[in-house]
Amino acid sequence: MPRPEPHVILFHSAASDPRWPDAIRRALPDFEVRTNLEGIAPEDVAAAVVWKHPPGMLAPLARLKLIQVIGAGVDHVFTDPFLPRHVPIARLVDPGLTARMSEYVLLHALALHRRMDETVRAQDERRWEFIAPAPPARTCVGILGLGHLGLACATTLRAMGFRVIGWSRTRKADLPFETYAGADGLAAFRNACDVLVLLLPLTAQTQGLVDSRFFDDLRAGAALINVGRGGLIEDDALLAALDDGRLRHAVLDVFRQEPLPADHPFWTHRRITVTPHNSSATDPDTAIEQVVENVRRAVSGERPLHLVDPSAGY
Ligand code: GLV
Repeated sequence: MPRPEPHVILFHSAASDPRWPDAIRRALPDFEVRTNLEGIAPEDVAAAVVWKHPPGMLAPLARLKLIQVIGAGVDHVFTDPFLPRHVPIARLVDPGLTARMSEYVLLHALALHRRMDETVRAQDERRWEFIAPAPPARTCVGILGLGHLGLACATTLRAMGFRVIGWSRTRKADLPFETYAGADGLAAFRNACDVLVLLLPLTAQTQGLVDSRFFDDLRAGAALINVGRGGLIEDDALLAALDDGRLRHAVLDVFRQEPLPADHPFWTHRRITVTPHNSSATDPDTAIEQVVENVRRAVSGERPLHLVDPSAGY
């Protein structure tokens, strides 16, 4: 007798919202949703819904039709040396995650624009330091990475009145703000920004992009917000740029090692704001529809939404 069609959805995430497995069960009642493979034949798994899966976990799933990552970034998927390369990989474009990310970037762009870092230091020293309020249009926020999240942040910042410019690896046409592209455009771009927002995927090309040279030709008083990945920045170069004044302040939500080790110098640096990778997160309430749609597409042979290009790494 031929094997029945794969009917299991394997869910793995040690860090996501604990409501995920039940949300998938409710939304896809025709599938069996499992958080491990005990008592299950690997070839019965149709789709894997994962966040930071252990290396090798997906290799034995011989009839897998979809690897659905429940997040925006997919860099960790490619750290699995046994990744089944023929299976489509999809990321989520979650309206909830996008909205929270835009809020976070707006929050910190406003704080940097209003020089809250200096106001907090003045309070620590009981100093009455009047910093005149200025209109947001006088601050240029530069977004590195013009994917879905970068564009959403640009819209929110522009609605607040900021001047926004953007940089991407390849040129993006028809955007309602000034853009720069490629290695050639990077120097002019970073020289124009008062606040730089890192929203790039972590790939072989972007690893360590923010290095000592990057800080050399920033505008005086420039600040940085990293909501992409820790690996985009060379940590020592960042500390040196803060210490010698090339960079005024850094807001860091992502790190090379997470959780950030207790003895890491970022924790106590006066010019660094640390947040625990909570700028945003996938919300099952707003993201489940896309998982359902992608499983439906994958099992019926259609192209899933928001496919990742393995050769580009994002
Ligand atoms: C979070 O870091 C994500 O990539 O969704």
